Amino acid sequence: MKPIKVGLLGIGTVGAGTFNVLKRNQEEIMRRAGRSIEIAMVADLNLERARELTQGECEVVNDANLVVSNPEIDIVIELIGGYGIAKELVLKAIANGKHVVTANKALLATHGNEIFAAAQQKGVMVAFEAAVAGGIPIIKALREGLTANRIEWIAGIINGTTNFILSEMRDKGLDFATVLKQAQALGYAEADPTFDIEGVDAAHKATIMAAIAFGIPMQFDKAHVEGIARLEAVDIRYAEELGYRIKLLGITKRTEDGIELRVHPTLIPEKRLIANVEGAMNAVLVQGDAVGATLYYGKGAGSEPTASAVIADLVDITRLATADPEHRVPHLAFQPDSMSNLPILPMSEIVTSYYLRMHVADRTGVLADVTRILADSSISIDAMLQKEPAEGEAKTDIIILTHQTREKNIVAAIEKIQALDTVFGAVTKLRLEDLS
Ligand code: NDP
Ligand code: HSE
Repeated sequence: MKPIKVGLLGIGTVGAGTFNVLKRNQEEIMRRAGRSIEIAMVADLNLERARELTQGECEVVNDANLVVSNPEIDIVIELIGGYGIAKELVLKAIANGKHVVTANKALLATHGNEIFAAAQQKGVMVAFEAAVAGGIPIIKALREGLTANRIEWIAGIINGTTNFILSEMRDKGLDFATVLKQAQALGYAEADPTFDIEGVDAAHKATIMAAIAFGIPMQFDKAHVEGIARLEAVDIRYAEELGYRIKLLGITKRTEDGIELRVHPTLIPEKRLIANVEGAMNAVLVQGDAVGATLYYGKGAGSEPTASAVIADLVDITRLATADPEHRVPHLAFQPDSMSNLPILPMSEIVTSYYLRMHVADRTGVLADVTRILADSSISIDAMLQKEPAEGEAKTDIIILTHQTREKNIVAAIEKIQALDTVFGAVTKLRLEDLS
């Protein structure tokens, strides 16, 4: 059978990994795909670097339009990133009848509905294993391996950069800026690292997983996004004293009223496997009604781990390229005419447990006032930690862990606690997930 011809857009961190792994493991990959997969054309703005990387083994151009309009190309791999030119090129490739592989979670979370509709109409595949959790085959697991299940919730460490930052800061006492620079040098961070730090990248990935798990359209605009920039070292310490680790989690849950879709720093019991995922590693915990909990762990970023997922998609497409489009796996796991319209819930309606830290006067009755406010709001306390005031200080920290309650209840209770004249400054609120 003649080789399937691939055009690669962007030969940066992931593009170079894809080129190298495909070359190194060509024979093994061909035995799996049943056909040779050949990168015939590469487009990159940096022609010199692209030529050096490809060593004359394929045509190199700096205008990506030449790739997406080349009738010889069967599959286009988009590894440029962002939603500008990348979106234009992906839609052009689809319009020209080409299958697409992309690692671009930002593009899919924000414009996925339009892209999948266009692909559906054209009868081409858009594959995106690398878009969530790098080298971990989580899309395959959700879309194919778990199809028997009603998926109940997913919680994942799905941003390598922030997990790397949190781990290095805790273990080596390094400062935020130093560790971020390391993450950038190692190729983990996004072109704009605020996407990592502010939780946007994790929210893109959570949006994609929610769509596949529950059969809903991509709704990134309704996701709650909170990163690690405002996380304080003191809370990491207190959480540890209480037996918890703080991780940036992407969480999506099906409830009777709708879907929770949120990214925020989260306390997790330290005995959970996922609490011990360190460095740039990712892990995704999926709860299905039949299978129970399954955990997927591996490298969530970096050149070759991500290339592994890109090439898995190439092999899938190669195997299915000649199949009737009706008989392929649907892009979002559910048939396009069987999507659900369950709404994404506003944050005020989510239900979880909370960690509260407050700076209070070290005086009789303060704790009673705080617990009375919580009790009046039907919020029950799970654990509490009261610190000794520092030498000569008349103020101290109280840390309270609550049982589950609705977010709007805790927000209202915090307002009342902050109004007490024995409570100084804002109450720090973090969410806690038991994940049992
Ligand atoms: P890089 O910035 O390393 O690579 C992007 C490449 O695209 C660069 O070589 C860039 O050239 C080139 N490029 C930019 N504009 C154009 C254009 N108009 N035409 C052709 N080439 C262009 O990014 P990554 O490889 O890290 O990321 C690629 C995608 O993969 C992104 O969507 C990212 O989110 C995703 N991803 C990345 C992971 C990682 O670990 N890095 C993991 C999972 C997903 P130049 O440098 O000259 O601008
Ligand atoms: N910037 C992303 C991360 C790359 O750190 O996880 C992988 O998607």
